[in-house]
Order: sequence, then structure tokens, then C-alpha cells
Amino acid sequence: MTYPRIGSFKSALDFQTHLDQSHIELSFDPVVETGPNAPLAQPYRMPNGFVLGNRFCVLPMEGWDGTEDGRPSEFTFRRWRHFGLSGAKLIWGGEATAVRPDGRANPNQLVISARTMGDLAALREGLIAEHPDKTDDLLIGLQLTHSGRFARPRNKKPLEPMILYHHPLYDRKFGLSADYPVMTDDDILRLVEDYGAAARLAQRAGFAFVDVKHCHGYLGHEFLSAVDRPGRFGGSFENRTRFLREVVSCIRAKAPGLAMGVRLSVFDFAPFRAGADGVGKVEPFEGKRYRYAFGGDGTGVGIDLTEPCAFLDVMVSLDIRLFCASAGNPYVNPHVTRPAFFPPSDGYLPPEDPLAGVARQIGAASELKRHCPEMLIVGSGYSYLQEWLPNVAQHVVRTGKADFVGLGRAILSYPEMCRDVLAGRPLQRKRICRTFSDCTTAPRNGLPSGCYPLDDYYKKRPEAEELKAVKRKRS
Ligand SMILES: Cc1cc2nc3c(=O)[nH]c(=O)nc-3n(C[C@H](O)[C@H](O)[C@H](O)COP(=O)(O)O)c2cc1C
Repeated sequence: MTYPRIGSFKSALDFQTHLDQSHIELSFDPVVETGPNAPLAQPYRMPNGFVLGNRFCVLPMEGWDGTEDGRPSEFTFRRWRHFGLSGAKLIWGGEATAVRPDGRANPNQLVISARTMGDLAALREGLIAEHPDKTDDLLIGLQLTHSGRFARPRNKKPLEPMILYHHPLYDRKFGLSADYPVMTDDDILRLVEDYGAAARLAQRAGFAFVDVKHCHGYLGHEFLSAVDRPGRFGGSFENRTRFLREVVSCIRAKAPGLAMGVRLSVFDFAPFRAGADGVGKVEPFEGKRYRYAFGGDGTGVGIDLTEPCAFLDVMVSLDIRLFCASAGNPYVNPHVTRPAFFPPSDGYLPPEDPLAGVARQIGAASELKRHCPEMLIVGSGYSYLQEWLPNVAQHVVRTGKADFVGLGRAILSYPEMCRDVLAGRPLQRKRICRTFSDCTTAPRNGLPSGCYPLDDYYKKRPEAEELKAVKRKRS
């Protein structure tokens, strides 16, 4: 099955016809407005009175390019400067930053500690310096993470997972034996303290909020599917959300006044793998219901947002008003998180038109916004829209389906995209992300992430040749 390229839709009618014929429910505005009344240029007022200057958000994008001791490198500084250059007024987390060394997803992930705090402050300052206009309406957070099952903290070593329960499919896929140790409740309580300490440092580094990350299969997310775990952190919804409540109360005690947000995979699917034809197929699972997808409906490929809505209620009860919706787990079902035309090297050919994946994320975020209108909600997964991104983004914001449009991969190739949209300049088509997935294939093969196909800085680096060799070998 092949799908038409986005660039082939030359008019709104072409695009609409394709959506209709493919039964994809995705609305867009045929004309993108500019000027102070344009929907994407509208300010957003937070309950505490802080006003954000427009409706674009830069999503967290890590680069697998920090130093071995958890500091940013020149690659990292450049990426954050580009986040600023975008002109977006919400910076959701910058990138995943481990609260302690064993929580790194790769040996080049940032780590927050007393030693690295100054470097993280410099990242933030570099971003602000590059921002094209006033910055008193710019909100910058830091994403705090522990990678849990997907921790790989040491160079040239395999995964060093810290797990909350034995997941039958993940254990098999990532080679964990039945007696592999599970984190104890005491281990968890120690980690809660580390989140508190990390948040205090983030506050001292000048960040306005921290994101207590609950997405993409990492530890925060794993709590939510720990239905089989006995004790205080598993089983009931109340117990599975205890980690969030504990972390929030620890952060409140250690970093008074610091705002918090949560990035959540609002739904998940069962793992996928390439079938004989290379196309992604859901892995068979035992029993009638797939029980380990938070926000899933039990089929492994469907959505039930009852628990994610209840999660938002918990956030409101904790007085947290910042929420970023993502989906899935890029290690096992990357098409859910990052709809793409070309799969990453550890992925599979798209099992659906990637536009269906975009529509699924927009639909879920909109259901959550309906459930909880007082929450500032950021949506994700828009980059695949390419030329039609501004039209869909405007429609979403104008109709209140989300408050902010989050951009990830699109920012890597073309950081000024948001500014061009707001100023009414035509998009620079050669710089639009075409979802080649090299930004994922590179790190999966030990290289720093970046837009190798479109960004001259990466195109000209020696790593670009290495990446080509890796891809040749696989094809
Ligand atoms: C290279 C790369 C790095 C990413 N790093 C992070 C990260 O540090 N934290 C996070 O929550 N999501 C991360 N993501 C996911 C993105 O924030 C985003 O959800 C995803 O790319 C879909 O949005 P898009 O279509 O705009 O790219 C990353 C994605 C990519 C491709």
C-alpha cells in the first residue's frame, strides 16, 4: 500500500478529496490568516495571569548529543537556539533530561545535577537570546525524565532497564527473564526524592515549569499500565497515579512556586513489528484483551479515553494546568507517536496513511480539551502535515480543539516555520520536514540526531556519511 505524498495536494480541494476518500476525519481551514487577529497569533492567558504570546509550542526534542557527564554539547546549544528562533511562545521542556544518571535513555542524554545546572541555564539563555521578539510572553519548561524500561545509561552497553512489572511482550522483545528484578516501592520513593531535587535545580536554572514526563514508555508512563503490580503503585487507577501525586508533593516542598506540567501518552497501542512485506502489524498477544495500553480499549489498536480524562482530573485536583498530549511508544509502535512516510531503521512500513495517525492524535487531544476546558492543552504529531500544517493548526486552535500546536520534527529542519506562518510569508518548501526519519535512525545507530537530509549543518558532517552507510546496509 502506498499513500500520496503531502506535496502532491496542490489545492484545498485535492487535500479534502483525499481525506474524504480515505475516511480520515481531519478538518482544516482553507486560508491561513495573518495579523493580530489571526487565531495562531492570539495570546493565551494562564489562570495565574501570565500571558503567552502566540499558539505555537516547541515540543521536547532530544539530540542524543550531550556529553558523557550529562552536559549539553555544541549540537545541543544549536538546537535550543533554533527552538528560540522559531518564535514559538511555549517551549515544552526543551528535551528529556534525566533526573539521575541511571535514568538516561542513552549515554548522551542530558542529566540535571548541581554540576550541570549552569549548563542547562545557559541552554535556556541561548534560546531566549535567539528569540526574534519580546520574551516576557515566552514560557520555557524543562522535561524531567527517568527512562525506566528503556534506560541505556552507559556507552556501548545494552539496555539497563528499571521496570515496574513484567510485561509479557516487552520482556520478550527486549530479552528480560521472568526473574529480572522489579523496582520496589522503596526504590520508587527514593526516585521521587530525585525528582524533587531535580525540580529545585531546574527552578534555580531559571525554568518556569518542569514537565513530569508520563509518555513514550518511559518510567512515568509505565506506572499507568502497571495493572498487575501489587502494592501502592500498581493495580487500581488510584495506585497507578500515586507516583504523579508523590512527585508533585515532593516538588512543591523542594521548589515552592515552580509550576508543573505533564506530557502524557494519552493512548497507547500494542507493539507492532514488520510483517513479511515490511508493513507494520500488531504483535499477537495472549488473551482476549490487551491490558497494558493506558488509554487503550483492550483491542491493542483502539482508544478509550476514560482513564486519561480521569488523569486530567487528578492534575486539576493537584492544581496543575499545563498538559501536553502525545501518544504511543516510539520503541514499539513509532507510527503512533510520529506519523511518518519513511520508517526509522528499527521500524516498519506505515500500516496506515500517516494522516490517519495525525488525525488520531488531534482527535484525542480535542476530546481531552472538551473534558477539561480549563487545562492548557498542547497537541503533538503535526509535522507530517507539511504544507498543510498551518491550515490544520489554525483550524484546531480556532475551534478550541487544543490551545497550542506543538511542533517537533518540523522545527529540526525549518525552525523559522512558525514565524513565517505568523508573518504570512510563503513556506520555504525545501526546508519542510518530509519525515525521512533520519532524526531517529541516526541515534538508533549510535549517531547524534538531527535533520541530515535538509539541514546543511548535518548534511556536511562526517556522521552523514556514516548514516548513509548504515541505511545502504539495511536496504
Ligand atoms: C529526534 C526526536 C527526539 C525526540 N525527543 C523527545 C524528547 O526528548 N521528549 C519527548 O517527550 N518527546 C520527544 N520526541 C517526540 C516529539 O516531541 C514529538 O512528540 C513527535 O516527534 C511527534 O511530533 P511531530 O510530528 O511534530 O514530530 C522526539 C522525537 C524525535 C523524532
